[in-house]
Amino acid sequence: MSLKSSPAPGAPSLLGQRPQDAAAADALIDRAFGPGRFTKVSERVREFAQFAPDLSFCAWRDGRIVGVVRQWRVRAGPTPIVFLGPIAVEVGERSGGVGGLLVEQACAAAKAAGEAAIVLVGDEPYFARFGFSAARAADVSLPSPVDPRRVLAIAFSPAGEHLRGPVRAL
Ligand SMILES: CC(C)(COP(=O)(O)OP(=O)(O)OC[C@H]1O[C@@H](n2cnc3c(N)ncnc32)[C@H](O)[C@@H]1OP(=O)(O)O)[C@@H](O)C(=O)NCCC(=O)NCCS
Repeated sequence: MSLKSSPAPGAPSLLGQRPQDAAAADALIDRAFGPGRFTKVSERVREFAQFAPDLSFCAWRDGRIVGVVRQWRVRAGPTPIVFLGPIAVEVGERSGGVGGLLVEQACAAAKAAGEAAIVLVGDEPYFARFGFSAARAADVSLPSPVDPRRVLAIAFSPAGEHLRGPVRAL
């Protein structure tokens, strides 16, 4: 497979992630994150989280997956929430807005499903443009130590505006 040096023009198609997409999506995630993938704190969350296929999406172009976002159901203290991640875009497709489309679709789906909030571990300089902030997640704790500046949340309801407590299984 050849990688492009600049993003392909036009928007890819976003589709819900189907079981048969999992292997190709996993391969993309492996390429994006490398061997450190399974040491991340987010993986500790995903060990007990409930995968949410209804909130997870693949970006398709020319019959192949060029981006993926997965979401999971957990709780933060007493509040059921969504945990986002991983999100990955094929190297040759980056900076063309595919990541942004995936985040926006993930947020829209969670909001439409009546979820209170999404929490993720990531860079605020990237995710702030979609409404995520570290301040919103300041009272949320994860199963292993993490830089609090990287724990971000976005709220969709009053319950999501006051997240407090450890992230645990539903
Ligand atoms: C993060 C990622 C999903 C973004 O996908 P993308 O399709 O490039 O995203 P968009 O096109 O919507 O946005 C790209 C812009 O965000 C910026 N950006 C990307 N990652 C960033 C980060 N971690 N912090 C700040 N800005 C970032 C890019 O520099 C680019 O800016 P530009 O438009 O000025 O060139 C992609 O870079 C990726 O797969 N990275 C490897 C996996 C990863 O780190 N996932 C996120 C874990 S939190």
